[in-house]
Amino acid sequence: MVIPGLQDKEVKMFYPPEELQMDAHVPDFNSYLAMYKKSIEEPEEFWKEAVQEFYWKASPTGQMLQYNFDVSKGQVYIKFMEGAKTNMCYNVLDRNVFDHNLGEKVAYYWEGNSPDHHMTITYSQLLKQVCKCANALKQLGVKKGDRVAIYLPMIPELVFTMLACARIGAVHSIVFAGFSSDSLAERIVDAQCSVLVTADGVYRGEKLINLKQISDEALKHCHEKGSLTVQKCLVVKHYAFRTTDACSKLQTPWNVKCDVWWDEVVDTASEHCEPEWMDAEDPLFILYTSGSTGKPKGVLHTIAGYLLYTFLTFKYVFDYHHNDVYWCTADIGWITGHSYITYGPLANGATSVLFEGIPVYPHVGRLWEIIEKYRVSKFYTAPTAIRLLMKYGREPLQKYDLSSLRVLGTVGEPINPEAWFWYYNVVGQGRCPVVDTFWQTETGGHVLTPLPAATPLKPGSATLPFFGVQPSILNEHGEELEGEAEGYLVFRKPWPGIMRGIYGNQERFQNTYFKKFPGFYVTGDGCRRDKDGYYWITGRIDDMLNVSGHLLSTAEVEAALSEHSAVAEAAVVSCPHAVKGECIYCFITLKDSREFNHTLMEELKRKVREKIGPIATPDFIQNAPSLPKTRSGKIMRRVLRQIARNEKDLGDLSTLADPKVVEVLFSQRCQAAA
Ligand code: WTA
Repeated sequence: MVIPGLQDKEVKMFYPPEELQMDAHVPDFNSYLAMYKKSIEEPEEFWKEAVQEFYWKASPTGQMLQYNFDVSKGQVYIKFMEGAKTNMCYNVLDRNVFDHNLGEKVAYYWEGNSPDHHMTITYSQLLKQVCKCANALKQLGVKKGDRVAIYLPMIPELVFTMLACARIGAVHSIVFAGFSSDSLAERIVDAQCSVLVTADGVYRGEKLINLKQISDEALKHCHEKGSLTVQKCLVVKHYAFRTTDACSKLQTPWNVKCDVWWDEVVDTASEHCEPEWMDAEDPLFILYTSGSTGKPKGVLHTIAGYLLYTFLTFKYVFDYHHNDVYWCTADIGWITGHSYITYGPLANGATSVLFEGIPVYPHVGRLWEIIEKYRVSKFYTAPTAIRLLMKYGREPLQKYDLSSLRVLGTVGEPINPEAWFWYYNVVGQGRCPVVDTFWQTETGGHVLTPLPAATPLKPGSATLPFFGVQPSILNEHGEELEGEAEGYLVFRKPWPGIMRGIYGNQERFQNTYFKKFPGFYVTGDGCRRDKDGYYWITGRIDDMLNVSGHLLSTAEVEAALSEHSAVAEAAVVSCPHAVKGECIYCFITLKDSREFNHTLMEELKRKVREKIGPIATPDFIQNAPSLPKTRSGKIMRRVLRQIARNEKDLGDLSTLADPKVVEVLFSQRCQAAA
């Protein structure tokens, strides 16, 4: 690897502040290089040393990391510490309370949607609540290996439940509480969950959401699909206990056969629960992510590798120290929350903020107010939030003291230079490195990322690989490109935190990630490597959309639109958006005799919200009398993307069956789009 900054003179570099380097875990670039070298050249030693941190009931029986990435040589697999025995919950709680004496340390400052609601949870309180919940789950019939669906907002019970599952060896499957009942049902059916944990309701900003009602609808859908595996539904009284609504605005539907109130079974349960000793490679959780065919994929992570990897990345990427107050604004319903609100921070014994609300409620300075209130030192958010808050200028920030901040992080999508500079100069006051972390639900933790005291930064680049990670760039023929290059981002070896499979579907796992280029894990992202060896993510190269940092597939939006009785055909593409990064642009061909009008557009939007959730709401819907297709009938999405973006230079259209279609579509495009 070359020394950054020496080769590439075109981009201004930002060097780590000396103050941060003084007591950093990785204090300079040479230390990073030395550790990286060791992780690649002596992986066995490197991982053995790293796992010393944790408690193992039994040691591994073979090599630390074993794998096959080459489909031509048999099944793809990854195993870390095979044969070892441990418990995730024991390592992130009991070990901190009893071995490290952190019982009185704050694990979470919970900050509600309304600034009037907040609470503090110490490590020993967390352990007790988790044990109670674990005992209650057992009482509801949950056994080792069972799947538990969790559909909860950002409240402490969400963390209690996931750790309770980990304690008793159950597999959690968290569904973001903004997903629709259809999406929830699809995920419950796929994972065959036996218990669903939800809440009565929640305010998101000013909007009241009846989670119990959505949950009931989901269970009804499961029943209709002939697959109602859920025996019990455990319901947190969140709306009832933690809002100040004078008269209840919410009806909580109740089914006596299945529903159980949290306070009746959890609050009364014992606060002692022996952890279940699990195999290193036993499943920890399933988390669904969009797949290009439209059906979400249940990404499976296992215990030991995920524990170690989230621990290490959290420690090094945020340069975590004992007195830090850390805050990640993601929702635990996404992988960022799993890895960097729950497991990574707790494995380090960190104090985190757990925030239920949204950045602009009750005012646009809410995030800055919270940073001041808890003296947050490490802050992690998404480019879409930065772009949203940038719109309000500096004034909302200037009211608050942000001098506690030391490191800023971003995740979810490429960060544009304008947002990067605002984050660095205005939020971080030019004092805090911005760690642009590239990773995926599938990677479990950061894979390309700067280390704040070691890596010189280039705005917009996720910079260099984390320890143990070997990226490569391939061309269309699968040839590895050296030096400056652009192509497919792949990884040639696993690291401990990579996914182990798609739940119940080994074939799809292999086909999605390993088939295109045997021997490599294919991310689905395009990437450029510059003269200094820095990596720049150029965006998805498959049929995926990244809306506000959330991945959606064009196919799932198309499937939802096609369910409307007026639609003959639908094609969906991404289009650039100033705040969301990308937005959803739909082309709709109607059935004969159906009319394209405002009411229909609203119905189509509603359909998508119902099938997937509000995050997938189309931004633009264009009437398309016909779609550009090849002679073999394949929709040319490239052409549609260019129409949506108003790019007139369409290049080679010789494969189009009817080139006139393009003119018609251009003349009718939604003017407000890019
Ligand atoms: C994108 C989120 C550029 C990328 C943790 C990836 C990024 C997808 C970055 C995974 C980044 C994530 N720069 N692009 N720093 N981080 N992405 O599974 O396209 O929700 O493949 O995981 O987000 O999204 P996922």
